[in-house]
Amino acid sequence: PRPFIVAIDGPAGAGKSTASRLLAARLGFAMVDTGAIYRTVALAATRGGVALDDDPALGALLPRLDLRFAPPAAAGGVARVFLGDDEVTAEIRTPPMSLGASKVSARPVVRAGLLDLQRRLATAPGNRGAVLEGRDIGTVVFPDADAKFFLVATAEERARRRHAELQAKGDPSSFDEVLADQRKRDKDDSEREIAPLKPADDAVVVDTSGAPLEAVVETLAREVEVRM
Ligand code: C5P
Repeated sequence: PRPFIVAIDGPAGAGKSTASRLLAARLGFAMVDTGAIYRTVALAATRGGVALDDDPALGALLPRLDLRFAPPAAAGGVARVFLGDDEVTAEIRTPPMSLGASKVSARPVVRAGLLDLQRRLATAPGNRGAVLEGRDIGTVVFPDADAKFFLVATAEERARRRHAELQAKGDPSSFDEVLADQRKRDKDDSEREIAPLKPADDAVVVDTSGAPLEAVVETLAREVEVRM
């Protein structure tokens, strides 16, 4: 049987990453950060001089994408990401790569080209289950996922979290810049024609505004456990 699949979708800053990571650790499941994949495609394109809307060139780049995930440097941290031999864990999280990921993710050739990779990472031998975090996991990547969540939070709360995260990394972006960036990405992500950001019909919508992280993880874990 295939591993137990948990889909966690929602807009930027809704708390998906941390909640997914903690949930996966608690369940002993693999964790697949699909945003990191789109970010790495944006970085590979940028480095290769490929315009982020050049479909033929993006299509040619995907099969050669040498993307690898490695376990976090510290327990509970984010997975390390490698492009070839080069570690790109930090670089893919910079604001230009956030916008770049949003751009490449609107190209059908990119979305289609990454489906198989996302499914393989989730169902790799040895995975008891997998938590996938993204925008279209419950609608497109695994429409038959065993548990589906859609995390939401107010725009201000989401921008506040992103801003704090960026500040901790020494990024000088102001709160207003982060909020503006995020509004643009939300708008682009929900209005694009292919795989727009929206909850699956059978997703459990969880509002994380003002909720302590532990409470969010507890809610998700309980929903998963009744489905196992
Ligand atoms: O989740 P994260 O902020 O890392 O995602 C970066 C961008 O990648 C999102 O703004 C979105 O445009 C795109 N993305 C997507 N589908 C996914 C994951 C991310 O379109 N499953």
